[in-house]
Amino acid sequence: MMRLVLAVIWLFFTFPAIAQKDGLAARPPMGWNSWNHFHRQVDDAIIRAQAEAMVSSGMRDAGYLYINIDDTWEGERDAKGNIQANSKFPDMKALADFVHSKGLKLGIYSSPGAKTCARFEGSLWHELQDAQTYAAWGIDYLKYDLCGLREEMKAAPTSEAAHKIMIDAYTKMHDALRSTGRPILYSLCQYGQDAVWEWGADVGGNLWRTTGDISDKYATMAEIGFGQAGLGRFAGPGHWNDPDMLEVGNGGMTADEYRTHMSLWAILAAPLLAGNDLSTMTPETVSLLTNHDVIAVDQDAAGKQGDRVSAEGPVEVWARSLADGSKAVGIFNRQHAALVARVDFASMGFKGAVKAWDLWQEKELGRINGLFVIKVPAHGVVFLKVTQ
Ligand code: GLA
Repeated sequence: MMRLVLAVIWLFFTFPAIAQKDGLAARPPMGWNSWNHFHRQVDDAIIRAQAEAMVSSGMRDAGYLYINIDDTWEGERDAKGNIQANSKFPDMKALADFVHSKGLKLGIYSSPGAKTCARFEGSLWHELQDAQTYAAWGIDYLKYDLCGLREEMKAAPTSEAAHKIMIDAYTKMHDALRSTGRPILYSLCQYGQDAVWEWGADVGGNLWRTTGDISDKYATMAEIGFGQAGLGRFAGPGHWNDPDMLEVGNGGMTADEYRTHMSLWAILAAPLLAGNDLSTMTPETVSLLTNHDVIAVDQDAAGKQGDRVSAEGPVEVWARSLADGSKAVGIFNRQHAALVARVDFASMGFKGAVKAWDLWQEKELGRINGLFVIKVPAHGVVFLKVTQ
């Protein structure tokens, strides 16, 4: 009996660690996803064009790796119940081979419900079979979107029973993916319901969406990004909070707003999944997405998510501790007009003078003693790497 109790205690403490030992997502995943720009239009030709552009634009060399097909690729099941792609994707295996030939990885999407959000075929009752199909195609990443299962959950007698349906469904697909022997990164998408950050790693998630859907508007992006305060302790190598995909380059925000988007996501150790059309993007969009120093903050080896240090009217200061002992510090202006912010680095644990490097301007600001007074553009950010 005692042995059993000890075994249960051991499992309880080590299971999350085991779930992360697959080596997947040691850093927040980087790549691209079809949904934000292409929605239901995504097809084989678009995926190939994105893979090519990811290489030619320099994004692959900047660290972007996954090309992820979101909802609407799904076709009918065959007589044996095997999922098939619809006519937009004539040969998924050939597509995966093509993406792999570019040095990239291919991701796909499904739902634990009978139907996906866009009402295509989901994985309910076919989890193992679908995982095996993905592995046979050469898939490297699965986004598993709750949607269809919410109907089953609503029918549950209590909220605890509904929660269990969800946990079981996510665990089931995780086990199915692992049983294939192919390393497939596992992305949970259930919009942050039931404080997913508290149990996402336990069901094997390498990342989990913490919010509803982003859109290409400053108000939505800011509400999501600045709403992530306090979640840092739940993230780390192998298991990340996911405030949703990037909108950079989709045209609905100013360059300063997109800099806020990138900086905030980097401080949050968020997955960087571009959501624009890589095959037609401007040089400005490329430079927003590939800023080496900003990506280095996001991908920092310590894997410690940052947090809000202060909020004073429209000025928010966020900081993230980096592996080399420095801090990434974002000074954000949430109002419509430029303002002058005053920042005291002592509040972040620095003593006396500090050295600062401006990540977007790519320039040394020299030694700063006492209050740092800086102009921050409307909806913009001054993003620094600060060293004692
Ligand atoms: C949900 C998800 C989105 C996208 C769509 C596809 O809304 O949150 O990211 O995957 O479904 O239908």
